[in-house]
Parts: sequence; structure tokens; C-alpha cells
Amino acid sequence: MLLLGIETSCDDTATAVVRDGRTVLANVSTNQDAFHAKYGGIVPEIASRRHVALLSAAVDDALGRAELNLADVDGIAVTAGPGLIGSLVVGVAAAKALAFAAGKPLYAVNHLHGHIFAAFLDADGEPEYPFLALLVSGGHSQLVDVGSPTDMRVIGKTRDDAAGEAFDKTARLFGLPFPGGPALERLAAAGDPRAVKFPRYRADPGMLDMSFSGIKTSVRHFLEHDRGATPLADVAASFQAAVVDVLIDRVERALGMRRYRAIVLSGGVAANGPLQAAFRAAGAKHATPALIPHRRYCTDNAAMIAAAADRRGAPARADALTLGADPNLPF
Ligand code: KG4
Ligand code: ZN
Repeated sequence: MLLLGIETSCDDTATAVVRDGRTVLANVSTNQDAFHAKYGGIVPEIASRRHVALLSAAVDDALGRAELNLADVDGIAVTAGPGLIGSLVVGVAAAKALAFAAGKPLYAVNHLHGHIFAAFLDADGEPEYPFLALLVSGGHSQLVDVGSPTDMRVIGKTRDDAAGEAFDKTARLFGLPFPGGPALERLAAAGDPRAVKFPRYRADPGMLDMSFSGIKTSVRHFLEHDRGATPLADVAASFQAAVVDVLIDRVERALGMRRYRAIVLSGGVAANGPLQAAFRAAGAKHATPALIPHRRYCTDNAAMIAAAADRRGAPARADALTLGADPNLPF
């Protein structure tokens, strides 16, 4: 099955063509960072207006790169939520119009399901079920038990900030540009992760919840009161180590609760080098294959949306053209 994917839940205008939820024929993403950077974060109204301006060309671009016409695809998969309402509406409206005009089925996809099925894209080895997914992005941090494509349960999540949000907010304390995650990782590369001992959120035994706002607050306090001559790189590396520790601790706890056949790391923060290394080490320690999608499929993209629609039952489960966007779509 050949699906056109459309993803506009946040600030990336993304389109893709994917065969059988696995082979990516085209993956197009127009990043809007330049339009939001001066505000230090994403401005929802700007994001939706940019999607309107860019999306038609992005659809043509994906089909063109795949050397296909709209008539050649078997359906259109679109992110219906969760995300920014204005941004979602643009993608859903475009997908409905294309589905109607071309007489193709429409498939609504939960953005978070997309991040999980990113693991199957252009991959050497696919995860076997059941697998554990750690999904860490700017908006979400959660552990998902994936028993099958249609049996997925959130078993742990953050009580406050998402991991990516903690990176972005902490990067601001250092005066780094948005998005802060990659910039903070670069700064931390020259630092000593053991220089400052920031507090790790220790959940009760048997619990898989996480928290990152305390780490961020400690960094602010440290910078304002205790920094002295500590190099900024050391502070950044110590912050990063604290976030990674909390995430990996929860992965290891979950591995102690069920026999998983793989662990999957996904979401924008999965691009982080020290997190990847720790995740692979946790997999090795528990003799469980650790899979990390290619960077271009970790951050928001439309190929993962097409993959999720495919794996989760298209063509049987088409949606009506009355489909609406839901900014709070439950997992
Ligand atoms: O999944 P994503 O592209 O968008 C959302 O759905 O949120 O994730 C974006 C988040 C941002 O918070 C960004 O700072 C973070 O991922 N991020 C990173 C790195 N690259 C992106 N965080 C830490 N280290 C990185 N290398
Ligand atoms: Zn995302």
C-alpha cells in the first residue's frame, strides 16, 4: 500500500510518500525555525499561517520526488492531533480536500502513534512485539507498552515538562537560540557531566512517572547563586546527564516489569547523542535490542504518519471526510 502522509501538528510542514509502512519514497519537511526564533518559541498563529503558505507545494514536492501523481497513491494519512489547533486544522483540511478531489480514503493518525512507528522506516531490523517505546519530544515524554500495532498503552509519563521542553527552557537560561536541545547538546559536548550534581526525580518503586521541571529550576538557581567559576559547558553537561539519568532509569524499571523484545527511542530528543548512548547501553545490559530511528524520522515528519496509518489497519479503517482536528486527541 502506498500512502501520502501529511503532518502539520506543530511548526514543521511535512509531507511524505511511504510504501507498506516501511519504505520511504519521499520525505519532505520545511522547518519554520527562522520565523519563530526571535520570539524564543513557537508562535501558534505564525505556524498555522506558514502551513497554509507551504503545504500545497510540499504535497507536490513529495509526490514529485516519489515520481507519482495523486492518482497513484492508495490513501492519504494525516495527523489529526494532538498538537496546535490552528496548525492541525490546516493539515486536516488539506488532506480532506485531496481525498475528496482524488476519491482516495482518508486516515486520521495520532501524532504520538506516528513517533512510535518511525522505528519501522527504512530500518535494518524492525522491532518485534511486544516492545517498549520511549517517546521524548518537545511536547511529550512517555513510555509506551506496544503489545501490537493496535494494542498500545502509556505506562509512564512526565508530571510536568516534557524532556524537550526542559532542554528548550534550560537552553534559554544559557542564552542559546531556540530550539534549545541541539544547541545545548553542542555546548555540553565540551563539559564535564559530573561537575554539578543536579537532583534526579526519584519516583516511588514500581512507578514509571518522570519529572524535569525540578532539574531546570536547580539549573536556574545554580546559575544565579552558586555558579562561581564553573564553566557553562560543565553546567550544560550536568543538566543533560540528569535528564538522561531520569529517562534511562524509567526504561530500566519498565524492562524489569515485562519481557520486551525490543526498546525503541523516538521523538525529537532521540537525536541527543548521550541519550542514544545510554539507551543502547540499557538495551545491552538487559539483552534487549535497542532501536533508534534515523534522525530525520525522530523529529516531526510525515513518513511516520503514513507508517502509523499503514500499520494500524489501513485500508480497513478509513475515516469520514467530516474528520476534525483534535488538539487534545487522547493517546
Ligand atoms: O519531536 P519534535 O521534533 O517535535 C515535537 O513534537 O515536539 O521534538 C522537538 C524537541 C525540541 O524540544 C528540541 O529541543 C528537542 O526535540 N531536541 C533535542 C535535540 N534535538 C532536538 N533535545 C536534546 N538534544 C538534541 N540533540
Ligand atoms: Zn512530535
